[in-house]
Amino acid sequence: MTRATWRTRIGFILAAVGSAVGLGNVWRFPWLTAENGGAAFLVLYLALIVAVGVPGLIGELVIGRRSGRNPVGAFRELGGDRFRFLGAIALLAAAVVLSFYSVVGGWILRYTLSSATGAYFAAPGEYFAAIDYGLGAVAFHAAFLFATVAVVHLGVDRGIEASTTLMVPGIVVLLGGLAVWVATLPGAAEGYAFYLSLDVGYLRENFLDVLVAAAGQALFTLSVGAGAMLTYASYLGEDRSLAADGTLIAVLNTAIGVLAGLVVFPLLFSLGVSPGQGGPGALFVSLAGAFGDLPYGRIVGVVFFGVVLLAALSSAISILEVLVSYLIDEHGRSRLQATLGAGGLLLVTGSVAAASPAVFGLLADTIANLVLTAGLIGFLLFDGWVLGRLAREEFERGAGRLARLVSLPWYVAIAVALPVFLAFTFVTGVGSVLGIPISSPIAVAVAVVGVAAVAAVFARCSPSE
Ligand code: PHE
Repeated sequence: MTRATWRTRIGFILAAVGSAVGLGNVWRFPWLTAENGGAAFLVLYLALIVAVGVPGLIGELVIGRRSGRNPVGAFRELGGDRFRFLGAIALLAAAVVLSFYSVVGGWILRYTLSSATGAYFAAPGEYFAAIDYGLGAVAFHAAFLFATVAVVHLGVDRGIEASTTLMVPGIVVLLGGLAVWVATLPGAAEGYAFYLSLDVGYLRENFLDVLVAAAGQALFTLSVGAGAMLTYASYLGEDRSLAADGTLIAVLNTAIGVLAGLVVFPLLFSLGVSPGQGGPGALFVSLAGAFGDLPYGRIVGVVFFGVVLLAALSSAISILEVLVSYLIDEHGRSRLQATLGAGGLLLVTGSVAAASPAVFGLLADTIANLVLTAGLIGFLLFDGWVLGRLAREEFERGAGRLARLVSLPWYVAIAVALPVFLAFTFVTGVGSVLGIPISSPIAVAVAVVGVAAVAAVFARCSPSE
């Protein structure tokens, strides 16, 4: 059976941007920004996207295109059976992320519908508290998942590519329109100020926490570490610069993310609510509350949550495709069987998250960061120490002069610097989950030794040895 490919270059880019732009930009980012000191978080997050996210994303694309396989098949193909576990980490990360993602997708779906009737206008806080977890949340999670399954089962070009080439431009246009309209609201200026002004003191005091949260979010927003970009790159037929594509994807994602911030923060402040109060529900309580008080609030609400729904769907599609491509490639399933199988699994795991705030919180905040970080560390060490020269060759394939110039610095970054940095945030993150604060020198030492040990083992197991 010949493997699917993207129809056009722009189709791949839009699908990848669709994967990147999602709840990460509109829901998780404002929530974390508010929790981590506003612009202090924004600055670190932008820096980490450039320094870690983009090279990491390219590292993932390299593996996907080189192998032309799903994550598990990719590592088997390129490194032999003993590296299949790296693909298994990706599958796990994908399952973890989609389990809570589709719960939030369900909330968004519900809010899109109830904006039309103004159901939550009178008492937004009570409304959200009544629907956030439990039977209703399970039902809407199932509905969101069903939509995801419906797109993915149509295939790479007829389903994913066709839908994302419509959705992504739609998201940009609608979000841009909202940003312009929001600028006319009284109080908007305070929102911009919170979003754009840097509190150096806060950053200095809380540097480590902000750093770990920002690193996790930089991976999350670029869809890196769960094999989604790897899988999308495996459908690339022609040779063109992965460095250029990866950079373009990140630039578009960041631009759309900043645009989303220009909508969300002024809206919050125009109502005089501090975004710090809301936690994961901020979007649904504070922001939704704003719609109730606005002229044409119902229309604005439907448009806003509709945009977010599109963004969430185009990301969920890419996560589901990780599991689906695995079942098709490795277990010889038809696309329909694979989609239903993966959908069935997520129906169960997502329902647990939809029923339990504790499970949801754990998955959405810390566990998601940890699995994505673990996944990316594995991918990059594989690039650096198993593929080695071949990774650079793949990086340079189809690339222009500039990309060939940066190929060596890129290689050093992904083989050494990024794994050590990511391992450091991983160790610190595990420490805070377990409630044992790990001092930075110790975390650095563990990261360096751990990465060196894994790199040495990987290099010895490389088939090119
Ligand atoms: N990048 C997506 C978002 O910002 C989430 C995502 C994470 C998608 C990991 C795929 C893989 O919403």
